[in-house]
Amino acid sequence: MRTAICPGSFDPITLGHLNIIRRAAQLFDKVVVCIMVNSTKTSPMFSIEERADMVRRTVGKYPNVTVDTSDGLLAEYARQFEGAVVVKGLRAASDFEYEFQMDLINKNINPQLETIFLTASGKYTFLSSSVVREMAKYGADLSGLVPDEIKSDVEIKAKQWRRNNG
Ligand code: PNS
Repeated sequence: MRTAICPGSFDPITLGHLNIIRRAAQLFDKVVVCIMVNSTKTSPMFSIEERADMVRRTVGKYPNVTVDTSDGLLAEYARQFEGAVVVKGLRAASDFEYEFQMDLINKNINPQLETIFLTASGKYTFLSSSVVREMAKYGADLSGLVPDEIKSDVEIKAKQWRRNNG
């Protein structure tokens, strides 16, 4: 049984993330989407639990995909799944530099851990969680950016943000 781990902060999950998860689910027996902490991203819109709940509702239609959370290191987390591979999406060359460094750090901790990259679908190369957060804060329409299952979660959270930030 070959397992793929799709790690990320998913704050919130976008259609670009979902595209990578769906394709990983076609390539691997099992996919674990793991919501993790990215310590460079300091003011999250959603708590880890809220993000996990949104991802669960979104990937419910894929029978071989499960959702987990971890506040530890990815390279340590992966040890529990024998032969697991990390799967990440690449949108642009700038993503590659960061991901290449992450892979080197992870391999330094866990030399068995391989990361493979799926190139983002052309229609999502511009899309990121930070773009979604920004658009939501301005009340923009999120159709085509986030899964329908979580659109209202993001709209409600953005409304709260607008109330608190005048
Ligand atoms: O969606 P993101 O923010 O690009 O995902 C990055 C993430 C969460 C996968 C990365 O920050 C991560 O692996 N966090 C867990 C802690 C860790 O292992 N950091 C790398 C070594 S310092």
